Amino acid sequence: MSESTVARSDLADPATRQALMAGVDATPGSAKPDSILVVDNIVRQFGGITAVDVSHLEVQRGIITALIGPNGAGKTTFFNLITGFDKPSSAKTGAHWSFDGATLDKTSASSVAKAGMVRTFQLTKALSRMTVMDNMMLGAQGQAGENLLKCVFKPLWSGQEKAIEEKAKELLQRFKLLEKKDDYAGSLSGGQRKLLEMARALMSDPKMIMLDEPMAGVNPALTQSLLGHIQSLRDDGTTVLFVEHDMHVVRHISDWVAVMAEGRLVAEGPADTVMSDTAVIDAYLGAHHDTDLGDDALLSDQAMVEIQQEVAAEQAEREEEA
Ligand SMILES: Nc1ncnc2c1ncn2[C@@H]1O[C@H](COP(=O)(O)OP(=O)(O)OP(=O)(O)O)[C@@H](O)[C@H]1O
Ligand SMILES: [Mg+2]
Repeated sequence: MSESTVARSDLADPATRQALMAGVDATPGSAKPDSILVVDNIVRQFGGITAVDVSHLEVQRGIITALIGPNGAGKTTFFNLITGFDKPSSAKTGAHWSFDGATLDKTSASSVAKAGMVRTFQLTKALSRMTVMDNMMLGAQGQAGENLLKCVFKPLWSGQEKAIEEKAKELLQRFKLLEKKDDYAGSLSGGQRKLLEMARALMSDPKMIMLDEPMAGVNPALTQSLLGHIQSLRDDGTTVLFVEHDMHVVRHISDWVAVMAEGRLVAEGPADTVMSDTAVIDAYLGAHHDTDLGDDALLSDQAMVEIQQEVAAEQAEREEEA
């Protein structure tokens, strides 16, 4: 199914999203009403280790899906495989995946990006010796990270540079990075780099954005704003697939959760269902015993107020310094 069955703006309404997913089986590999990404038989082995072995996964269009799982579960490898940054060991034995109706099995990372699927990296790939603006201009090429040198030396966008620059500025404004546009990306904080990477990914107007641990290493003030950005992307009609370890964040913003353990998809469902699933609890407990599977009470209104106060205090501090 490649046509959207639900008007995109409708999915900005939580009740609509809930109704959409209410009929979906909470079982690994379950069919979705309108899948934007369909993956079959994708296996990746490194020596004796099977890092990924996903027999079937569908990602619903227009919502936020979280991909969770303990360290080493294969989440990043899975992202690398489907975005063309790595090749499945099962390439000749039935690996198949399609995005928005187009087969992607044998395409390069830049073709994947052109098809409308872009990703960010667990370790940010902002180019520290380029300015923030130049990093954004690279995003217009499609997936930065591949063939960077070619992108730097041979701009493919000549003629439209002005329009692209305007777009970059708009995005930087939205992510509160505009005043840093001429600074080296290397001078940004870890959180600002994450924002820059997300802004850059949006330069190519993706249909789906894949975020690998967007909150890792980000201070609470920026976490709040990152969460807001991810939700508003969804509300504007962009499909979001993100990897995250913080279960409070997962519970707070995900419409659907998929769980990987030892390379396999072991559970799927709404956050509450998934986090009380014994397979999930076992997967996490097997890996690290102190994992807190999240309690939404911690993201209560009170917590939000505290985060906002923290933001305000930091801002005041900055203004004082200036
Ligand atoms: N290039 C590689 N060479 C060898 N083994 C690898 C390589 N990349 C990943 N692995 C192994 O594959 C498995 C899955 O790793 P992956 O990074 O995909 O996990 P992850 O779920 O993203 O973990 P984390 O939550 O820590 O980021 C791990 O056992 C890892 O050591
Ligand atoms: Mg990872």
